[in-house]
Amino acid sequence: MRSGLPARDPGPSRTGTAASADAPVRATAAHRQRWVVETMAVAPDDQVLEIGCGRGAAVSLVAGQFTTGRIVAIDRSATMVRIATRRNLSHISAGRAEIRCVGFDSANLPADRFTKIFAVNVSLFWLGDAAQQVARIRSLLAPGGRLYVFGERPTVAHATANLTATELLLASHGFATTRSSATRGQGQVLTCVTGTPIAAQT
Ligand SMILES: C[S@@+](CC[C@H](N)C(=O)[O-])C[C@H]1O[C@@H](n2cnc3c(N)ncnc32)[C@H](O)[C@@H]1O
Repeated sequence: MRSGLPARDPGPSRTGTAASADAPVRATAAHRQRWVVETMAVAPDDQVLEIGCGRGAAVSLVAGQFTTGRIVAIDRSATMVRIATRRNLSHISAGRAEIRCVGFDSANLPADRFTKIFAVNVSLFWLGDAAQQVARIRSLLAPGGRLYVFGERPTVAHATANLTATELLLASHGFATTRSSATRGQGQVLTCVTGTPIAAQT
C-alpha cells in the first residue's frame, strides 16, 4: 500500500535557496531564520557553530542574543561569505561572530567546544558521506551540547520523510532525537531534528 510519502527525501524546496532576491523570498527567509533562532533558544553565553550560513541572516539573529557568546559560521561559497560578512560587520568587529569561507570537511574546528551546532537547508545531511560528517559534528560538541538540523520542505509528506531520514541518521551516531516543525503560508513546512549525544556506557 502506498504511504503517500516520497520514497526518499527530495531535498530543500526551491524557496529555501538563497538564489532569488525578490521580496517574497526575502520575507520567507526572514521567517525561517526567526523560527530557527527561537527553536534553538540561544543563550547569551552560547558557543555556536553554523554550517552553511549562506547570506548570514541567522548569524545576525544569533549574535544579537550574545553577551559573552560567540558564533563561528562557515560556508564553502565565497560569494555567500562576502555577503554574510558585509551583513555582520558589527558583530565581527565586536568579537561575537567569525565567518569563514571553507567546506565543513576541511574546516579546522576545535573539538568539544560548541554548545550548539546548526545547519539550515544544507545538503550535508542528506547527500554524500553524511555519516562521517555527523560523527565529526558529534566530536565538536561540548558536553551537554546539541545539534540542530533544520530543513524546509514543500509539503507535509516531504517534511515527514525528511524528519524521519534525519532522525535515523542522527540515531545511528548515538544521538537522542526530538523533532519539531512549523507550517506557514503556501504550504511550506519548516523542520528541525534536535540531536543530543547519548553518553557512552562504560
Ligand atoms: C540552501 S543554502 C542555505 C543557506 C542558509 N543556511 C539559509 O537557510 O538561507 C545552503 C548553503 O550551504 C552551503 N554549504 C553546503 N554544503 C556545505 C559544506 N559541506 N560546508 C560548508 N558550506 C556548505 C552552500 O554554499 C550554501 O550557501
